[in-house]
Amino acid sequence: MTTDSPVSVTREGDLAWVTIDNPPVNATSTAVRAGLARAVIKVQGARVAILTCAGRTFVAGGDMSEFDAPPVEPHLPDVVQMIEDSETPFVAVMQGNVLGGGFEIAMGCAWRIAAKDTRFGLPEVNVGLIPGAGGTQRAPRLIGMEAAIDMAASGAMLDAEAVQALGGLDLVTDGDLAMAARGFVADLPPRPVAVSQRDATPIAAEVLEAKRAAVAKRARGQASGLLNIDALQWAYLPFAEGQPKERALHLDLRQSAESRALRHAFFAEREVARPKAAEGAAPRDLQKIAVVGGGLMGAGIATASLGGGLKVVLVERDAQAASSAADRVAGLIDGAVARGKLSADKAVEQKARFIVTADYADAADVDLAVEAVFEDLEVKRAVFRQLAEVVASDTILGTNTSYIDPREIFEGIPNLSRCVGLHFFSPAHVMKLLEIVPLPETSTEVLATGFAFGKRLRKVSVLAGICDGFIGNRMLAEYRRAAEYMLADGALPQEVDAAAREIGFPMGPFELQDLTGLQIAWANRKRQAGSRDPAQRYVTISDQVCELDRLGQRSGKGWYDYVEGDRKPRPSAEVEAVITGYSKAQGIVRRSLAREEIMARILSVLANEGARIVEEGIAETDAAVDMVQIHGYAFPRWRGGPMQAADELGWDRVAAVMARLAEESPNSWTLSARASEAAGV
Ligand code: NAI
Repeated sequence: MTTDSPVSVTREGDLAWVTIDNPPVNATSTAVRAGLARAVIKVQGARVAILTCAGRTFVAGGDMSEFDAPPVEPHLPDVVQMIEDSETPFVAVMQGNVLGGGFEIAMGCAWRIAAKDTRFGLPEVNVGLIPGAGGTQRAPRLIGMEAAIDMAASGAMLDAEAVQALGGLDLVTDGDLAMAARGFVADLPPRPVAVSQRDATPIAAEVLEAKRAAVAKRARGQASGLLNIDALQWAYLPFAEGQPKERALHLDLRQSAESRALRHAFFAEREVARPKAAEGAAPRDLQKIAVVGGGLMGAGIATASLGGGLKVVLVERDAQAASSAADRVAGLIDGAVARGKLSADKAVEQKARFIVTADYADAADVDLAVEAVFEDLEVKRAVFRQLAEVVASDTILGTNTSYIDPREIFEGIPNLSRCVGLHFFSPAHVMKLLEIVPLPETSTEVLATGFAFGKRLRKVSVLAGICDGFIGNRMLAEYRRAAEYMLADGALPQEVDAAAREIGFPMGPFELQDLTGLQIAWANRKRQAGSRDPAQRYVTISDQVCELDRLGQRSGKGWYDYVEGDRKPRPSAEVEAVITGYSKAQGIVRRSLAREEIMARILSVLANEGARIVEEGIAETDAAVDMVQIHGYAFPRWRGGPMQAADELGWDRVAAVMARLAEESPNSWTLSARASEAAGV
């Protein structure tokens, strides 16, 4: 008996039941692979072997914790081959998520049946890999090349009916799965040709090219999408040739920087959800929340909260503002329906959980109130004073401030243990990041509730300490400063933007400013003029651009020129004149910066500031910094975040770049302890 094995075999007349029981998701660990290999031997003599999984799901992937080490026998491709070659044919009986190795095992079986709500995927691309157990070779033979490309190269998940329509399932049931399995095996159809021995469906050259182009466009530098398409094309070779090629590439990719980075991101997401600071604390149950202020951010926060199943009271300052806020939220919900992201029924149900008011008394019974009013200390203080008067003495109070010290905002509010910063990113119903910023007094229970709230809204929550800009905006400020220094010293906006895109950002810093508008940052700079460190270099190019009324796309021009009805940025002669004029006035001899150099500067400045943030305890870990950058600032996931990227690049390189920057702009950069150590300073 395979007593300790996660795979058990039981015989029942001429049937053999093979059951994988490896919670939580029946991943194909070494023990599962070994158990399956033994099971294939044991089932011989039975008329049919029924492969099932205990729990909510069929095999939902490989065991990623095993990916850093060399692969251990038996290897999954061999196990799948044993299943396919078995004298006793296998039928896979599936529920939940059939992902990666799970789908590969299923494709080795003679027949496949599934519960109706089963979902199928080959998501290896999401961790920088291609399938390694015949997935790229069997999928085009089973469900056709086009669908296989969508799954393997784009990470698309297909539901059972779609897979059945493509010929990949023999039976789909919305009844009892075990009963359906029994019914199916009672009257087996003739054994079909093994999937590996079928022909992959042809694909028209134009269709293939279009798919390639679409994958390349989304990749932003990630290689694994296109590599999956390459591997899928080997399905036109005999299986015995294509399969070893797939395996070899899979094993190579396991050791690639891209896969390491994507695996880091995968684990980091889980790690940041459990910060040490909230360890052991149980979150409170949240049913009803208030959002105060229904502008850009408040409307997004309300929409995300409705999406998370909460009742929401939105408080605005007067009836007119309340009515605009109501329209804004309705617009976001309707937009989700129009884009097919939300069903019409769910939209109705969400709207029924939503009220808008200008009366704080309507928020009296909420469990949590989040403020998203103007970024003004006095306005925010007044909001919390009014809230504190109506809500319970332990109702959690959160502020969405981007820059104001939450300790000042909550000054004088009774019971500071319930107060916390909840910093969302714009647009709040879309962006995944939530920075959770405790006060010194915030209780661990309130902190844990903040994380539970984030999870409910499907956010990636990251614990952040109090400093100017918390984690994300503090790093952004350094990035922008570095970008402006580069303009002054020799680069043009289009060169900096191109380098940022080469890193994998969807947009460079100047294009992005044009999109969001330059005026808020301009107003900020004017406000901070008095408190700026006079020794630090200050470049006035941005201010001069603003003074020319070049305030971004909405004003028709910004760092770039735009033509009516087209968002494409065109390099501007006027801006170039401002930049070169500035350099000249400062006596700077402009020198051109190679793209690689600009990229190294951007990455180094971000990583150096990230290291300082960790050293100061503003972030608990490098992983937290990386998650902020990936989920709040569109840092390319395939580089794993700036800290992971610096680990790959080498901190000595980071230190060297920072030394260069310090030489060009004295008194303007602070080296992190990590970079100084690497430099041997
Ligand atoms: P907004 O100007 O679009 O919205 C502010 C809303 O608050 C307005 O609808 C206004 O009527 C309402 N309001 C003002 N005083 C009020 C009061 N006493 N009671 C109730 N409602 C009141 O501003 P936005 O962009 O939504 O920003 C709100 C907050 O979110 C600010 O603290 C901002 O720093 C922060 N934030 C903004 C981000 C952004 O990208 N815009 C990103 C992250 C945070």
